[in-house]
Amino acid sequence: MKIALIGYGKMGHIIEEVALSRGHEIVAVIDKDNQQDFTSDAFKTADVAIEFSAPAAACSNVRKAWEAGVPVVSGTTGWEKELEKLKSELPSNGKGLFWASNYSIGVNLFMKVNRYLAQLMNDYANYDVSMTEVHHIHKLDAPSGTAITLANDLLKAIDRKKEWVLGEAVKADELSIKAVREGEVPGIHTICYDSEVDTITITHSAKNRRGFAVGAVMAAEFLCGKTGFYGMDDLLEHK
Ligand SMILES: NC(=O)c1ccc[n+]([C@@H]2O[C@H](COP(=O)([O-])OP(=O)(O)OC[C@H]3O[C@@H](n4cnc5c(N)ncnc54)[C@H](OP(=O)(O)O)[C@@H]3O)[C@@H](O)[C@H]2O)c1
Repeated sequence: MKIALIGYGKMGHIIEEVALSRGHEIVAVIDKDNQQDFTSDAFKTADVAIEFSAPAAACSNVRKAWEAGVPVVSGTTGWEKELEKLKSELPSNGKGLFWASNYSIGVNLFMKVNRYLAQLMNDYANYDVSMTEVHHIHKLDAPSGTAITLANDLLKAIDRKKEWVLGEAVKADELSIKAVREGEVPGIHTICYDSEVDTITITHSAKNRRGFAVGAVMAAEFLCGKTGFYGMDDLLEHK
């Protein structure tokens, strides 16, 4: 498969390594300083683009790739509102987009555990639920896209929580998400149920970024030749 990379930072470099190791070819690399390459012949030959850039750049990157006729796997987080608009355009525009707040297979299994545990805990109002996420100091968005996905799943399942807030909860129906930024931590997400007598916690801790890159390349293999919107549930069902 011919892959174009959009965003050539930490993730872009690991995705390149993983894609080559799976027998794919990198036909174009677009970073902040060579935006003109979206209209290059090389970019247009790509079967799919993998986009890991910055929140302010993601939406326009997807549109530029679509203009060149290239479907996009995006992993950039922190632009979810614009993403909803792009998704709403997909049924009529014949383009392809895959987006996930977290491409790690382990995190997606953890998301399933989170949904299951939340359903159980909905009946036990003596437990308060909260979340903590820890990431490296370079991360631009807070809370993380993964934390938002986990929080939305909690809000769907736990009737006593109505909205998530960044920081301490002030009202009982708020779900607190604490975002900690330290060192080079690839990503830790912990959900904690706390009562007067005990505490139940579930944690996913990424050891490095490779798990995200493998998932993103698998998503590109899945998206190739398809139109419409897809996410990790589609990929995991397909496996
Ligand atoms: N979904 C997931 O599984 C997952 C996993 C890890 C990370 N992420 C997300 O992926 C994104 C990138 O992460 P990263 O760790 O690779 O960050 P990074 O190391 O900062 O790399 C981002 C790269 O994108 C470039 N860039 C900035 N504006 C651009 C534009 N308009 N067009 C093309 N490239 C542009 C940056 O260039 P400059 O350095 O010159 O600005 C940099 O090279 C972040 O949003 C992060 O939260 C998602």
